Amino acid sequence: MQEIVTFALGYLLGSVPFGLVIVKMAGLGDVRSQGSGNIGATNVLRTGRKDLALATLILDAGKGAFAVVAAGLLTHWAPWPMALAGAGAFLGHCFPVWLRFHGGKGVATYLGTAFAFDWRVGIMIAIIWLLAAATTRWSSAGALAAALCAPVLFLLLGGVAFAVAAAFMTALVFYRHKGNIERIRNRTEPKIGQRKTT
Ligand code: G3P
Repeated sequence: MQEIVTFALGYLLGSVPFGLVIVKMAGLGDVRSQGSGNIGATNVLRTGRKDLALATLILDAGKGAFAVVAAGLLTHWAPWPMALAGAGAFLGHCFPVWLRFHGGKGVATYLGTAFAFDWRVGIMIAIIWLLAAATTRWSSAGALAAALCAPVLFLLLGGVAFAVAAAFMTALVFYRHKGNIERIRNRTEPKIGQRKTT
């Protein structure tokens, strides 16, 4: 029962589309009709506003972390309700009911939940993301590399519940990055901050 409640609360929190709201509030229109069409921080950066991209990153990660911590507080830090709250927040970001289930790719929210599951793993996957993104200049490559390592790191350090949630989120991150993977293969994926998506 606890798992159902924390999953539902996580989903509701995760479904708040911060990137969309922030860009609209800044008077820059609908971020879904710009760049890659995604509502995440990478695409908000393509509006040319670093501050809005940073705010989107912090808020999208924050909602994932908040969902997990709130579930922990409600259940005396029981791992499965926390894992389901994180997975729920991630699903809410990717498939928000408010946007007819057309949401983002979940990377920042995944990172936030990872920090809240186990801060050591959070730091490790943030470093992997930064290194891969800085080397390739592709945000998506950083996300994919970090997502690939996360379930293994959780299995080694964070426990089975978080590893299972991470494996589920990693599978969905790859699914949501189908187009990015294709563009990486074709070398047409835009570099970080590059406005045009080919
Ligand atoms: O966090 C999403 C990122 O990995 C890719 O975003 O806008 O380039 O598809 P985008």
